[in-house]
Amino acid sequence: MNNPLYCSKAARKVKPCPRLEGEIVLHGDKSISHRAVILNSLAKGKAKIDNFAPGKDCLATVRCLRDLGVKIRRKVCGNSTTLLVSGIAEDRLKEPANVLDAGDSGTTMRLLGGLLSSQPFLSIITGDASLRSRPMGRLIQPLMSMGAEIWGRGKDSFAPLVIKGRKLHGIEFSLPIPSAQIKSAILLAGLFAQGETTLHQPMPSRDHTERLLKQMGARLESDGNSLTLSPLTNPLAPISFRIPGDISSAAYFLVAGAIHPDARIIIRNCGINPTRTGIIDALVAMGAKLKIENERWEAGEPLADIVVESSELRGIELGGDIIPRLIDEILILAVAGCVARGETVIKDAGELRVKESDRIAALARELSKLGAEVNELPDGMIIHGGKPLLGTEVDSHFDHRLAMSLAIAGLVAKGETTINHAQVAKISYPAFWQDLQKLVSSSNCHSK
Ligand code: S3P
Repeated sequence: MNNPLYCSKAARKVKPCPRLEGEIVLHGDKSISHRAVILNSLAKGKAKIDNFAPGKDCLATVRCLRDLGVKIRRKVCGNSTTLLVSGIAEDRLKEPANVLDAGDSGTTMRLLGGLLSSQPFLSIITGDASLRSRPMGRLIQPLMSMGAEIWGRGKDSFAPLVIKGRKLHGIEFSLPIPSAQIKSAILLAGLFAQGETTLHQPMPSRDHTERLLKQMGARLESDGNSLTLSPLTNPLAPISFRIPGDISSAAYFLVAGAIHPDARIIIRNCGINPTRTGIIDALVAMGAKLKIENERWEAGEPLADIVVESSELRGIELGGDIIPRLIDEILILAVAGCVARGETVIKDAGELRVKESDRIAALARELSKLGAEVNELPDGMIIHGGKPLLGTEVDSHFDHRLAMSLAIAGLVAKGETTINHAQVAKISYPAFWQDLQKLVSSSNCHSK
């Protein structure tokens, strides 16, 4: 039999294999990695960050911080990345000599946008074509109400952003959408503002910024869905830790294990922060056999090992509060929905239209090519599960999460699935294809 994962420069081919088995040791969580390096850059002293996320998005944050004068050493050993960060404390960031480049990373642009608004110099931040088409008005408006001076293209709606930093004042602000990026941007600005900053969230979103800020000595009070941050009176204390594994990357193998007819996969060191575990709750509600073992803590974040086995899935309805807890996992959940019995309905997820691609349109289009029955909704989709998938040529739309979701669909589609522009997986998961190959190979179903 041919190798079920054939590789060319831009395309990958995936075929079904009789058994999927093995262990995945996860790289560090992308969201925590961005925050760990930004906050340690501001701290007084040195920090060692192990298991830093190796994808291009987090490296964009490191590059921007270096351009702002922070000394960061990166050591790569096999699949493991360690950062040594020398925090600047009172020394302050430096005016960058050139335009800062956030690449494809919305988190880099929005979090640094908040921070730079409060720094006493001019900075310009841009990104690739995809990032330059994503909404920035949601960032600019609250920062302007704190006194920031920011300009963007399209009447202050899009990057590049020009930021003339200045002394800000705290605000009381109700976030119109449950966005962790906007929440974190305002908190970063609030660290250096005059007076308290209070945020009211419509529903909880990932809270890694809050957890790290508290661990590093900032005064941050939570009350239900509201947060109040006091400006820093002393620099943050550095924090050295090992970043828990990325549950958004684990999601591909959680679904692969559940939908494959003969699978057992163990995922090690997976972050299980409750603001991120919507994927686990959704899969369990669909009937997936998941076991969470060996729960522990690292720098205020819970993590565990997860075992997943072949399961009979049924469709479910997803909407409301769970959406921000699984916003990045909806594409792979839709793949689970294709295999499940009955209908899977996803609603309240209009944000998917302004991610790295219009994820609702792109997913409906590509899954339909494989024979799935998917109806697009303005804020989600309905998947009529149980239709057999047939391998064909599909495209990632240059969206890393779509590339990886289509690869998992290819494992259960009849024949061969070719994923074009598959190399984009490296944005968040550079070892994705090797990890998938490992699970497939353990079944002895390929030869060279
Ligand atoms: C992220 C927040 C989410 C998520 C993104 C990472 C973060 O975006 O989709 O991949 O690290 O804060 P929004 O804040 O726009 O919902």
